[in-house]
Amino acid sequence: MSAPKDDFIDPDDVGVNVSGEPSIGELIERRLNRRDALRGFAGLGAVAALGNPFSVSTAEAQAAGPSSLTFKELAHTLDATQHVSEGYDMQVLIRWGDPILAGAPAFDPAELTAAAQEKQFGYNNDYLGLYPVPAGSGSGDRFLMVANHEYTNPNLMFAGLGSGRDAALKASKEQVAIEMASVGGAVIEIARDGSGWKVVPDSKFARRITATTAMEFSGPAAGHDKLKTSADPAGTKVFGTFGNCAGGSTPWGTWLTCEENFNFYFGGDPAKLADAELAKRYGVGRAANAWSRHVDRFDFDKEPNEPNRFGWVVEIDPYDPTSTPIKRTALGRFKHEGCTYALAKDGRVVFYSGDDERFEYVYRFVTSRPWNPNDRAANKNLLDDGTLSVARFNADGKVEWLPLVQGQGPLTAENGFATQGDVLVKTRLAADLLKPTPMDRPEDIETNPVNGRVYVVLTNNGLRKADQVDRANPRAVNDHGHILEIAPKDGDHASAEGTWSIFLLAGKPGQDAGARYHRATSDNGWLSCPDNIAFDSKGRIWIVTDGAPSAAGVADGVYGADTTGFGRALTRCFYQAPTGAEVCGPIFTPDDSTLFLAIQHPGEDRGSTFEKPSTRWPDFKDNTPPRPSVIAITRKGGGTIGS
Ligand code: FEO
Ligand code: CA
Ligand code: CA
Repeated sequence: MSAPKDDFIDPDDVGVNVSGEPSIGELIERRLNRRDALRGFAGLGAVAALGNPFSVSTAEAQAAGPSSLTFKELAHTLDATQHVSEGYDMQVLIRWGDPILAGAPAFDPAELTAAAQEKQFGYNNDYLGLYPVPAGSGSGDRFLMVANHEYTNPNLMFAGLGSGRDAALKASKEQVAIEMASVGGAVIEIARDGSGWKVVPDSKFARRITATTAMEFSGPAAGHDKLKTSADPAGTKVFGTFGNCAGGSTPWGTWLTCEENFNFYFGGDPAKLADAELAKRYGVGRAANAWSRHVDRFDFDKEPNEPNRFGWVVEIDPYDPTSTPIKRTALGRFKHEGCTYALAKDGRVVFYSGDDERFEYVYRFVTSRPWNPNDRAANKNLLDDGTLSVARFNADGKVEWLPLVQGQGPLTAENGFATQGDVLVKTRLAADLLKPTPMDRPEDIETNPVNGRVYVVLTNNGLRKADQVDRANPRAVNDHGHILEIAPKDGDHASAEGTWSIFLLAGKPGQDAGARYHRATSDNGWLSCPDNIAFDSKGRIWIVTDGAPSAAGVADGVYGADTTGFGRALTRCFYQAPTGAEVCGPIFTPDDSTLFLAIQHPGEDRGSTFEKPSTRWPDFKDNTPPRPSVIAITRKGGGTIGS
């Protein structure tokens, strides 16, 4: 079972693709033996192409010292604080409410104001990115760090609201203004000295992005009728970003922050929705917080198009705090988990992005032109021109990328797609027509820098029924998730196809049907609900989780594994988060000496309140609620993380 969060708005676990399209695997499954499908590996072309991760005998594995990761594994536990493997140090780098802009007041949980919050580190840190300072330098001791601030927990931020969903709906106008100032993102400057990592005070780069920051649309959907509002009759300017889950970088050193669960911020009378089909397909209709009660533009009775202005990838230049963030419409509109790049052989840039909802799809965007490594400014609008595609994972181990291009196939005016802007504003509806594979909640998608393969993290899908099982989503009631591995054809990320295999099926071996790892994985090494991943420079995967079975005493954490060799898919537990928290934003310094993590929503447990939270991590001070924070993990005495 996933963590019980039933009295919460769990912004990562609401909604489902109700488009009614049968799973591609449904047809395939009718021809397959069910037991064989659950085994998941035998007899597939993909296995031949990528190698069977479980073919290593125990004797061989032991002789080889199965994992290259030598840290001492943590036993599964769950308590009010965090834990890391013996021999490592943890340092809290920055917390919600810490000052980052000049003139910011110190954090005072009894006196929160929107004006203070706009100058302080925001709430619920998720994605983290690192950019060297000065740009292009390689010292590794000074970076700009960007952080997404995904959403808020009003029950833990404010006194007197109680717990759960009602708390969010009860927030006052002033509290909503604080919430709006605490989401979005932040840019901070960090530097390493003899005592560890520090935030550089009053950095000229420091910036907060919030739900009111002025932004622009660009690309084919800019100016689209469905983006026009009374505040923006041209459909080209937009205010703010929220639901910023994961993200990515570009090769030219900009930050991509992704709008994920934007639909919950909008309320009104569903009967009055201007485009009911579109709203339904994106889950717009029922507010999960109080924003629409206090701010007109979040009330879709008053501004029917405002929801369409979210669900995009936003590009921000972290080196220029005066720059205008741009919503890049060419990358499509859905619940973007993240957006990470790989380079095609010809220098074009390929961005992978998952739509994180049950039975949603995996996407890819390929720029029309190569990027220019010698002229940063030449890449400025590279994200406005390219091809968005959606993935179909075939039972024979082949993955096909199906282009979402107006005029091609069913994407015609007769079907409601008269322009490419239509395709992009209504990406999910356009994708449905191409019959891609509905997945078990696509979260992070990242390319391994060593083996070039693409790892697609599928966090869970408890709603998949037995007759919806397919080869790429091989379990019904998938409470624990799994990870796919794609090898692009000819090693080229722009190829129209590739091969896929399953890297691991999460859950507890021997308890959860179909759980599969390396056979030497210990009782501590199994994991549940993988979310974001990072690769170290040796190509080893580090998996962070969101939704570990807390009822069974298992915290969300960090698990490392080799991706090749005898230790492939032998996951080992490295870090555990405080109760209620998920782990986000894993990123290594280029020398692998520091692993930064974003510890999100500590204390988000059933019944937890400002007055009586389930943890007061990291301050553990009376009257101070838990604070989402970024931490830095280093090895005692220095050296590479993991081994
Ligand atoms: Fe915000 Fe998909 O996790
Ligand atoms: Ca998640
Ligand atoms: Ca996530």
